[in-house]
Amino acid sequence: ADAALVEAFEATIAADERIEPRDWMPDDYRATLVRQIAQHAHSEIIGMQPEGNWITRAPSLRRKAILMAKVQDEAGHGAYLYSAAETLGVSRDELTEQLLTGRQKYSSIFNYPTLTWADMGAIGWLVDGAAIVNQVPITRCSYGPYARAMVRICKEESFHQRQGFEILHALARGTEAQRAMAQDAVDRWWWPSLMMFGPPDDESPHSAQSMAWGIKRFSNDELRQRFVDMAVPQAESLTLTLPDAELRWNEQRGHYDFGPIDWDEFWTVVKGNGPCNRQRMEHRRAAHADGAWVREAAAAYAAKQDARRVA
Ligand code: 3HC
Repeated sequence: ADAALVEAFEATIAADERIEPRDWMPDDYRATLVRQIAQHAHSEIIGMQPEGNWITRAPSLRRKAILMAKVQDEAGHGAYLYSAAETLGVSRDELTEQLLTGRQKYSSIFNYPTLTWADMGAIGWLVDGAAIVNQVPITRCSYGPYARAMVRICKEESFHQRQGFEILHALARGTEAQRAMAQDAVDRWWWPSLMMFGPPDDESPHSAQSMAWGIKRFSNDELRQRFVDMAVPQAESLTLTLPDAELRWNEQRGHYDFGPIDWDEFWTVVKGNGPCNRQRMEHRRAAHADGAWVREAAAAYAAKQDARRVA
């Protein structure tokens, strides 16, 4: 690329300003954004499955309506993010193909099963809580379309977290059985939620470059720590405990110390061998096949519209 273009790109990044779709950008910058935005979009769509399992089994009409709204929001988040990825020159079909063939991933967190209704609370409070901590800095990402998609997504995520917290709050103050169900869900979702932030900084191959390009504003470990510091007081107000005996406030650090994360489990799940990876992918492949007729009909309709316009 000619030097002026490279200079303009680097000056924009250095000035903490936005790169827009029509701007020149290094191939690696484009590839990193396609990788991350696509995986983010895939996560939103696959993430509909664990929660979708409980829509027909919600304990009340109110809970059903709230959960349905949340799952529909996740579909919308996926749509915004696929649109942001398309501005980089990839098509949604290509990205879907890469997901279905396993060449692109989605967040490890969605490979765990949702065993009870309380999981809807733990997912809202912990998984959406972690997503908010990770996504708010992305509203200042150097790539315009991704940052703008995040602004709208983060607003909807705060509703997702509140409704999850409220489910656990109600259960923790219910019968002994309901309280035990809430505690069991928190026990199962706590560590996988910490893993959402990615591997430790010294094992994160993409962080340095992503931070230099203003794509990643804080490191994996910094955001993980921020999430722990936020969650501990909330667990106390829920009167539920977090499954980590080493969790304690460290006055020197001004943060909570916490126990070791099982990185073998993390990489096992990321590599496709978690509890629900196969089931999630089978379901997604089936949905793609079952939905083919809708895509064909929409394309045929669009072609007819175009033909009418031209005629
Ligand atoms: N699950 C699956 N793969 C993960 C992962 C996780 N939790 N954390 C890291 N990885 C992968 C990375 O994709 C990378 O693999 P790749 O080269 O094949 O893509 C590898 O592990 C090394 O990790 P790095 O830290 O070097 O990679 P990144 O710089 O991309 O950082 C990230 C990982 C922090 C997850 C970053 O990609 C990110 O911020 N992504 C956008 C946010 C996102 O995807 N959130 C998860 C979605 S949850 C959600 O939105 C649903 C909610 O609405 C309920």
